[in-house]
Amino acid sequence: MDKTNRKPLIAGNWKMNKLASEALGFWSQLRQALKLTPEVEGALCVPFPLIPAMQAARGDCPIRIGAQDVSSHEAGAYTGEVSAAMLADLGVAYGIVGHSERRTYHGETDALVNQKLLALLRADITPILCVGESLEQRDGGQTLDFVESQVRNGLKDVPEAERSRVIVAYEPIWAIGTGRTATAEQAQEVCGHIRAVLGELFGAETARHIRVLYGGSMNGKNAASLLAKPDIDGGLIGGASLKPLEFADIIGAANEG
Ligand code: 13P
Repeated sequence: MDKTNRKPLIAGNWKMNKLASEALGFWSQLRQALKLTPEVEGALCVPFPLIPAMQAARGDCPIRIGAQDVSSHEAGAYTGEVSAAMLADLGVAYGIVGHSERRTYHGETDALVNQKLLALLRADITPILCVGESLEQRDGGQTLDFVESQVRNGLKDVPEAERSRVIVAYEPIWAIGTGRTATAEQAQEVCGHIRAVLGELFGAETARHIRVLYGGSMNGKNAASLLAKPDIDGGLIGGASLKPLEFADIIGAANEG
């Protein structure tokens, strides 16, 4: 499939790691190693309290800052929540929704994930919708049906004008943080199915513009073979994004793709 409509995105997900005081050192190492061409987009999705320090430390680095979650509510009496407007106010460009860790540890449903995604779009933040099956589901042959239902439910009611900016990340739960990456063929099979579902939902032309990422133990060594697949338009990187040189390597693989 022709990938010319889609700029690869390499997005780090720091999860609950690092302190604001580490931001400067991270950026200076990353900047020295980084070769980011205009053909590739980069992002780092960091914990809420780190966002201002990361924005200040990145200077003119083209890597944008993202968040890892957002409230589904606009504002009001929701103790502990962070709204999309607050993120936009800090210059946040991307927001992850529906990460499997939030679905598992915080009981997030497809319906809530969908509300969060719509809240991000209202604040002009690009959502990254995470989907992916458990090992049990894969072994039971349910992968494609399960991922399809997550995509359909997560993308309900997305306004027509916003559809092509949405990003979907396929993250098989069994590959997250385990060092066990999906093979490029396994990842392509699911990412290709996601694009077919996007075509049914939004039409083939829009589906050609939507980026589908792979996430799960992606690193400097395996990135190139995953990114070479026709329906994999980038990566959502956990552990390897905490190390500036390795993150730069993955971006390098995207540059060469
Ligand atoms: P790892 O790259 O550490 O497996 O994490 C992937 C992930 O969950 C990114 O959101």
